[in-house]
Amino acid sequence: MAANATTPRAYLCRRFTESVEAALAERYDLRLNEHDGILSPDEIVQSARGSEVLFASATEQINEHVLRQLAPTLRYVATLSVGYDHIDMAAARELGIGVLHTPDVLSDACAEVAMMLMLNACRRGYEADRMVRDGRWPGWSPTQLLGIGLKEKRVLVFGMGRIGREVAARARAFGMEIHYHNRRALAPELAAGAIYHADLDQALRIADVLVIAAPGSPQLKGIINAERIACMPERAVLVNISRGDLVDDDALTSALSTGRLFAAGLDVYANEPNVDPRYRELDNVFLSPHIGSATRETRDAMGWLLINGLDALYQGATPDNLLNPR
Ligand code: DGY
Repeated sequence: MAANATTPRAYLCRRFTESVEAALAERYDLRLNEHDGILSPDEIVQSARGSEVLFASATEQINEHVLRQLAPTLRYVATLSVGYDHIDMAAARELGIGVLHTPDVLSDACAEVAMMLMLNACRRGYEADRMVRDGRWPGWSPTQLLGIGLKEKRVLVFGMGRIGREVAARARAFGMEIHYHNRRALAPELAAGAIYHADLDQALRIADVLVIAAPGSPQLKGIINAERIACMPERAVLVNISRGDLVDDDALTSALSTGRLFAAGLDVYANEPNVDPRYRELDNVFLSPHIGSATRETRDAMGWLLINGLDALYQGATPDNLLNPR
């Protein structure tokens, strides 16, 4: 649609799926970061000046400087992520800038990746793939690549929100016993029989498999440290689909290299995309590049959630995915 004087200007920091970009171009005078590289805060300010809507993702730091610089025209930040730890929410609130995110629609996809990591960690997926690919498979043997079965193991879901509950549902289908740690216990219909632990250190004692699904936040930085890993059973498994900085990399790499932990599966890292190089040297860690929500259906649905939320806001309604309603 040709932009006219009343078409709001919007800036797209990353390339979204084709159908979502087409729908955005229908609604906005849309400028975009053609090359799709990660923009620094100053580059965002430079490129998005004059925009009413800023479409971002978890790779952009939408800090106070960005918000203040864009505030004269900026009304909304729409992030293609459920996490919003990359956005200065206090500054957004102060400046009256609405922030939209993408809950719910990505929970299944993220839970699938949690299971992918859990299975690959427990069944030595990286070693198995490499053995076949490198032509080093000597043939079947009774003791080759022995792993850990999931049935009757205890999984601890740290962060039993929407994504955590989908992980629990899938783990239950694999015959696992479900435990969880949250600030508060869930209502019975949400817990679906999962066992609540108010104390994280106590909870870790029973975690044959720990799945970190808590939202990223400065308060949780480094929470899974050496002391907490030491609480876990010998040869336990750790899976992280949340944010990398919840885990202390020194502690995790050390526990993996000594065999104190059997294995890990990681989709997220501190300081992405600069993965701590020690992980690359370890055979007992299965690594994926932050692909929790990376299915076409999910990325389309995330985009549409933002589009519909903004349409509602422009019509004077308050969508459920607005994080800071007035
Ligand atoms: C999210 O939605 O928060 C995912 O981690 C992708 O950024």
